[in-house]
Amino acid sequence: MSRMDNWKNKPFPVLGIETSCDETAAAIVDNGRYVRSEVVWSQVRRHAEFGGVVPELASRMHLESIASVVDLALKDAHLSPADLGAVAVTHGPGLVGALLVGVGFAKAFAYRQQKPLIAVHHLAGHLAANYVEHEDLEPPFLALIVSGAHSHLVLVEDYGTYRVIGRTRDDAAGEAFDKIARAMGLGYPGGKRLDELAKEGTPIIELPQTVFPDSLDFSFSGMKTAAINWLHRQKQRGEEVLLEDVAASVQKAIVDALVSHTEAALYQTGSKTLVVAGGVAANSGLRVGLKDLSERMQIEVKMPRLSWCTDNAVMIASAGYFAGLSGEYASLDLNARPVLAM
Ligand code: KG4
Ligand code: ZN
Repeated sequence: MSRMDNWKNKPFPVLGIETSCDETAAAIVDNGRYVRSEVVWSQVRRHAEFGGVVPELASRMHLESIASVVDLALKDAHLSPADLGAVAVTHGPGLVGALLVGVGFAKAFAYRQQKPLIAVHHLAGHLAANYVEHEDLEPPFLALIVSGAHSHLVLVEDYGTYRVIGRTRDDAAGEAFDKIARAMGLGYPGGKRLDELAKEGTPIIELPQTVFPDSLDFSFSGMKTAAINWLHRQKQRGEEVLLEDVAASVQKAIVDALVSHTEAALYQTGSKTLVVAGGVAANSGLRVGLKDLSERMQIEVKMPRLSWCTDNAVMIASAGYFAGLSGEYASLDLNARPVLAM
């Protein structure tokens, strides 16, 4: 019997901590489903000056803000540390120095408060945003997890039981969005700005799609290179480019790849529920494309609200609760894992 069993019918508040990239976030969520408080301190404006995340700067900024961010989450929830049931923290994958700040803080906090410590995989976190958004959602289901660093099709057999059935062999979808956006002069992170521009344009460039025989794996580097080369060519020729149309072309190419692979995965697995997660799940074209797919295939599609697509700590607190339910506690020698399979 796990330590959480006798809490199943009472509120069990878990403090979630997330510092894997460029947001310092803390949240308190009851029983993996009900948000008591949430704080996200984004560093994005500082990194934007450099055109991308500067790892050393990220670590330093996490260190400066983590204590106040956690404090604010507790205050907003009207709880004291003693009221918490457990502390959950992202231990990987991510930037090692950034992860270390969250892991170090969570260990010290858990030790000082004598609370169980739970290690959360960042992608399991992204997925769990859906358990908070959709109170009745339960495994099994098929998940499409698309972020700045990952593009995974995952069969979620149970809470914490994952089978990765497709993944990118090169760039992640978010990475492709960001790199093309940068070449378009949209700044960092460009995915969201590209999405906004795409709404005003029409696709004019045909970008290549890569498919691997008998595989659900993705590849985005071919279309990324083709888009960047096209931009360079137009510039060399001195021809004007309508950024809205370029954005619409890129968005269409990336969304078509994600939707077609997801469709194949749904056929292959026979799953009737599709869950979408990660920063790219905020993309308007993808949301529409997957809703259309769900109508076509008569399946249910679930996605979190936009603010829970990108990095946050609500998702970490939720994933932590479900991991704790199955007795998966971490010890105080927990370390950051920059590379970590799901
Ligand atoms: O999940 P996330 O916040 O961080 C990682 O775990 O990587 O995802 C960030 C990624 C970035 O690549 C960002 O450009 C992308 O998600 N993103 C978007 C949109 N909003 C965020 N990409 C396309 N369209 C959007 N609306
Ligand atoms: Zn993320």
